[in-house]
Amino acid sequence: MITEKTKEELKKIKNDVLNCQKCPLYIERAKSKFYPVIGEGSYQASIMFVGEAPGLNEAKTGRPFCGAAGKVLDELLESAGIKREDVYITNILKDRPPENRDPQPEEIKACTPYLERQIEAIKPKVICPLGRYSMKFLMEKFGLGNQLEGISKIHGKLFESNNLFQKITIIPFYHPAVATYNPKHEEDS
Ligand code: URA
Repeated sequence: MITEKTKEELKKIKNDVLNCQKCPLYIERAKSKFYPVIGEGSYQASIMFVGEAPGLNEAKTGRPFCGAAGKVLDELLESAGIKREDVYITNILKDRPPENRDPQPEEIKACTPYLERQIEAIKPKVICPLGRYSMKFLMEKFGLGNQLEGISKIHGKLFESNNLFQKITIIPFYHPAVATYNPKHEEDS
């Protein structure tokens, strides 16, 4: 059941992101008339997917994974028999870095409190980081930093975290965009 408290908190997160000026990415968003990509899906999802940052299509629409990488994610979900509307999909950065460059440490620091609030509100049982930046952030956040290795070593592995009030499983995956330039990896994700 979705509580009023969850709905209210997610609405508040959306407003806070819309008004956020904690890192310079909001300037680019305003200049280009882009949207922040806050997240999409079920508020009672047991699985949350966390990508890196919006690409151009996402920033134009405000929807996560709606471009080429999104097609790969949709295929991954379909092959696992999971409906997109039953999961929650978001990113560690809510705004698009110029030219899709990698997220910078200060941007991750400024933006991830929103992700932490989304996790607290939705309380997923499983979080699937998509790509190495979200893998690193989430494994460290859940006390699994000592098990971090290169994504090619640990993608698809289950990591259990019990050290918070809630048990959570982290399963890192390659970022879906990898499969768009190296189809071999699609089988791995
Ligand atoms: N890549 C991401 O990491 N997130 C998106 O939403 C789209 C592409």
